[in-house]
Amino acid sequence: MKNRQVLKIKSVIIILFCLQTIYSQSPTWTEIAPGVWKTTIGTPEAYNLFSAAEILPNTNAISKLGEAAFPLSRDKINAETVNCKTFLRFPLDKGEEIFGLGLNFKTVYQRGKILQLHVDHYGGTDNGRTHAPVPFYVSDKGYGVFINSARYITVYAGTGVRKDSPDAPEPKDRNTDKSWTSKPYSDAVEMVVPAAGAEVYVFGGPTALDAIRRYNLFCGGGCLPPRWGLGFTQRVKTLYTSEEVVAEAKSFAEKGFPLDFIGLEPGWQSKAYPCSFEWDKTRYPNPAGFVKTMKDMGIRLNLWTNPYVSPASPMYQALQPYIGSHTVWGGAVPDYTMPEAQKILLNQINKDQVSLGISGYKIDECDGYDRWLWPDVAKFPSGNSAEQIRQTYGVLLQKTTTHQYHDNNTRTFGLVRASNGGASSFPYVIYNDYYSHEDFITALINSGFNGVLWTPEVRSSKTGEEWLRRFQTVCFSPMAMINAWSSGTKPWSYPEVEKEVKNYALLRMQLLPYFYSEFAKYHFEGTPPFRAMNLEPGFDAKAKSELKNDNLGENPYAEAVTKEIKDQYMAGEYLLVAPLFTGQTSRTVILPKGNWYDFYTGKYVGNGEIITVSPGLEKIPVFVKDGGIIPMMPPMLHAPSANEKYDLEIRFYGTNAGRYALYDDDGETFNYEKGDYSWRIITVDRDKKGKLSGSISKVIQGKPDNINKVSWKFMSVE
Ligand code: GAL
Repeated sequence: MKNRQVLKIKSVIIILFCLQTIYSQSPTWTEIAPGVWKTTIGTPEAYNLFSAAEILPNTNAISKLGEAAFPLSRDKINAETVNCKTFLRFPLDKGEEIFGLGLNFKTVYQRGKILQLHVDHYGGTDNGRTHAPVPFYVSDKGYGVFINSARYITVYAGTGVRKDSPDAPEPKDRNTDKSWTSKPYSDAVEMVVPAAGAEVYVFGGPTALDAIRRYNLFCGGGCLPPRWGLGFTQRVKTLYTSEEVVAEAKSFAEKGFPLDFIGLEPGWQSKAYPCSFEWDKTRYPNPAGFVKTMKDMGIRLNLWTNPYVSPASPMYQALQPYIGSHTVWGGAVPDYTMPEAQKILLNQINKDQVSLGISGYKIDECDGYDRWLWPDVAKFPSGNSAEQIRQTYGVLLQKTTTHQYHDNNTRTFGLVRASNGGASSFPYVIYNDYYSHEDFITALINSGFNGVLWTPEVRSSKTGEEWLRRFQTVCFSPMAMINAWSSGTKPWSYPEVEKEVKNYALLRMQLLPYFYSEFAKYHFEGTPPFRAMNLEPGFDAKAKSELKNDNLGENPYAEAVTKEIKDQYMAGEYLLVAPLFTGQTSRTVILPKGNWYDFYTGKYVGNGEIITVSPGLEKIPVFVKDGGIIPMMPPMLHAPSANEKYDLEIRFYGTNAGRYALYDDDGETFNYEKGDYSWRIITVDRDKKGKLSGSISKVIQGKPDNINKVSWKFMSVE
């Protein structure tokens, strides 16, 4: 009741406010952290993306990025609130490119798009409806813009042409002028927020990557998964029993395939779609015993759920005061903006799931379709609108469960199908049912612009070739997962490529020290572990056309200049991954400036040029930057546990001196927040005789140290 009254008063104020037009042509910006500016337009709603996620900015880490100048001409930014809508305009320069604006699957360049940012399943078009429609864009001029509103924001990303634009294109006569275009030049990003105000943030550079770092750090830093979260995971068939799950884990061990956690799909619950949130006692008669058996085998468990509560669920009654007006598949829709509802959920999952050692959740169906989700006319007891709740439902569930694991001082790493701005610090990876290998890679690239993680999951394939090609890419992603909930496929299901699949599963394990360190950089420095080539120094889409390559004719970059690069990406500081898709036997790879080396052989492959590679089915092309240091461990079947020591093999590529910060902690708890971690600096230099030699700094006494013997491989030495 109290809530409602406050809301009524607020609504009256907002309506009165909306009767007038508030012009704030050039907003006033306040620097709230080094290189981070905020402005408030009109009367923003109290509930927004940052409040939903309850972000805790890491200002210390932002400070380390240094000062930055306000990156735009302030007088070219316009903002006004008219009739309860907020209109924003930001300038674009000639040739400027922008990225981000949600987890897009088909395109990397967003200039020229019209998007309505709306949490939904991905429907095959980059139109703003997607699993994480983050209202954040990054410019190659080295800044980012974030709109902190949980509304369906419409973005005209360089499409509208104002009559008073200083750059307005001249009208052309289509009858006679061949250069007429239906898409004339636009010099601005314009946005409509359907609310009487909004907070807007600008993140400074100097580079686009710095702007992303500032954004991620402002959201608390990227998540640091547990070490086991970066190992291999298999999701079993939906109606598996506990015996079948145990047998599945055993077969991984027997066949020598790595496995760190198994995902149980809907059948672990006594009711699903809507969900009971409790074990099905016929398939899982003894959850405690089962979880322990798995743990003894070194395997953790992740549980699927969707958020809709079956009348048969033990928490259904208690939730009644805190549910929305509409149901989903007959299940209640809890208003998770309310702490009371969060508490009831946590009570339920703590009872005999989290307390038994369940390592995390897969939170399904919190994105869309409209056909079955609550409509925008739905009402929620908190007074937050159906639209706001739709935009943040996945974020609320990530936050609630993350906080619980944090309270237990145990890290989690889960899956979620909806996210949004502010969620960088939540240890969740987005997935979906769309299953286009090519577009999954584009999504992986775009995830890095949006402060989210994405897995190009593998389910099943028509051929062994497709299976292996998909498998190779998932091993170079945030979550190496087979999602066999329907197919029941195992890594070895295609005997013709079983050996090659195993090699990549084991290579993924060998790369754990590298990937774990890269995630630590996501957490402490904000650098996304998987990201676009456009963020890589020396990768200059414009300069490319000036380069020459005799093998490829006059202008080898002609194709690349006009086409965005959405099929190769950076995995961590040094690795460039260029997947092949079914049917391809060769492909071109665009190498940024600087010397690049083959990951497998250490051989020089090129510098600032397009190369063509034909690696054979058994290989996914991976290249290493000059001076690249890749710390690796033996091909273990499980990620090392808290105090387990492993040997470290340090691979060095190229001829330039190199440096790498190797991260270590217990891999399982949040003790790193209290300083229980170590960075060891690996350096490679040339001695007076020109011989390469490497060293690794000692661990500070009392700090975590999982490393046993260290060996070196200078990969590029003839
Ligand atoms: C889908 C989900 C799949 C799988 C399935 C189980 O919605 O995307 O990954 O979990 O539900 O019914």
